[in-house]
Amino acid sequence: MVWSNKSLHTLLLLGLLLVCCLSSTYDKLSCPTCKKIASNFLKAVEDTSRKNFGGGNTDWEERYLSKYEFSETRLVEIIESLCENSEFECNLMVETNEEYIERWWFTMQKNHPNFFLWFCVDTIKACCPAGTFGVDCVECPGGADRPCNGHGSCNGDGTRTGDGSCSCTKEYKGEDCLDCANGYYSEFQNETYSLCTACHLACKLCTGPSSKNCTECASGWIETGTNEGGVTCVDVDECLAETTPCKQHTYCSNTEGSYSCEACDVACDACTGGSPEECINCTTGYTLEEQKCIDVNECSMDDKVCTRENEDCINTEGSFKCVCSEGYKEQEGICVEIKVSAEMKDSEDQNVVEPEALADVDPHEDL
Ligand SMILES: *[C@@H]1O[C@H](CO)[C@@H](O)[C@H](O)[C@H]1NC(C)=O
Ligand SMILES: *[C@@H]1O[C@H](CO)[C@@H](O)[C@H](O)[C@H]1NC(C)=O
Ligand SMILES: *[C@@H]1O[C@H](CO)[C@@H](O)[C@H](O)[C@H]1NC(C)=O
Repeated sequence: MVWSNKSLHTLLLLGLLLVCCLSSTYDKLSCPTCKKIASNFLKAVEDTSRKNFGGGNTDWEERYLSKYEFSETRLVEIIESLCENSEFECNLMVETNEEYIERWWFTMQKNHPNFFLWFCVDTIKACCPAGTFGVDCVECPGGADRPCNGHGSCNGDGTRTGDGSCSCTKEYKGEDCLDCANGYYSEFQNETYSLCTACHLACKLCTGPSSKNCTECASGWIETGTNEGGVTCVDVDECLAETTPCKQHTYCSNTEGSYSCEACDVACDACTGGSPEECINCTTGYTLEEQKCIDVNECSMDDKVCTRENEDCINTEGSFKCVCSEGYKEQEGICVEIKVSAEMKDSEDQNVVEPEALADVDPHEDL
């Protein structure tokens, strides 16, 4: 079969198409892949240089090493360690570009010592130099040295993709991250440099550092007047509201811009602070005496609280207990005398009765 000029042409076009589309299948990921290859390359160069030093520099070793340093043998070792077997992208990139890697190894490394720049950026064009983005490696807003003026990240930075738009840190906004975000004010700004600082807690928006430099108050703060530097915002004391915002058994504690509800002492039902001296009224079991809720001794009240026969009253903090008296035990709701059984009496000599059995009273709690 004879190739016509025209069919040769078509074949060439097909080939070009194949190359273009094959490379575009790894466009998005190609820079990270290439970066990884370049860093593995550096590592492998280092590893192979160490591996082949025996320590004693014999004449033979010297000659062998100087030969090995730029040898194909070493290059093969390096290439083999660039990708894991499972990394399809990586292996494809290395295989497709092996001739470039060889060219760098044998002829370029003297004049282009940075493998990453030569291979990933200049030759296979998978990456851009830092601070540039997109197909043509255009500088990021703010310039390649300080992308986004040092206050954000540039979309596609260092890759052949992205649109170069800035994502600013929380203090900044705008196309090139020079303006101050809401809640921040400008301490300094020129065409390339900007410093934004957080407003005072009192301000939602501001022009300066103090609570007098607000242009709008933060929530929990209220405007009390204007001055030459803006409006003045002061803290709202939520605890002074007619109805307390806190639940029972808690008291309101004002904070800057807000409030919190803290637990009362156990003795209080309602309180103005955390100690038993700050009760408004007491929980049951306590009584207010000299501004303080103290435990009620239920056992010494005129009306007996433990009413069963043969039981004693024991006062506890906030409550009391009814327990059977010594020598009695609880049985079906009443206190019965503990008797040593007839058989036990018979075998008393064998000493089977434990003395604790007598003292083992079963407390009957009454809360
Ligand atoms: C902007 O301010 C920075 C920091 O003070 C300064 O280094 C820089 O020269 C200034 N640039 C211009 C254009 O004034
Ligand atoms: C902040 O407020 C103070 C006091 O009113 C004022 O003197 C100062 O100029 C203000 N600063 C700014 C940046 O507005
Ligand atoms: C204690 O006072 C609060 C209101 O101050 C009231 O809601 C509560 O019912 C009172 N408790 C008692 C036991 O009187």
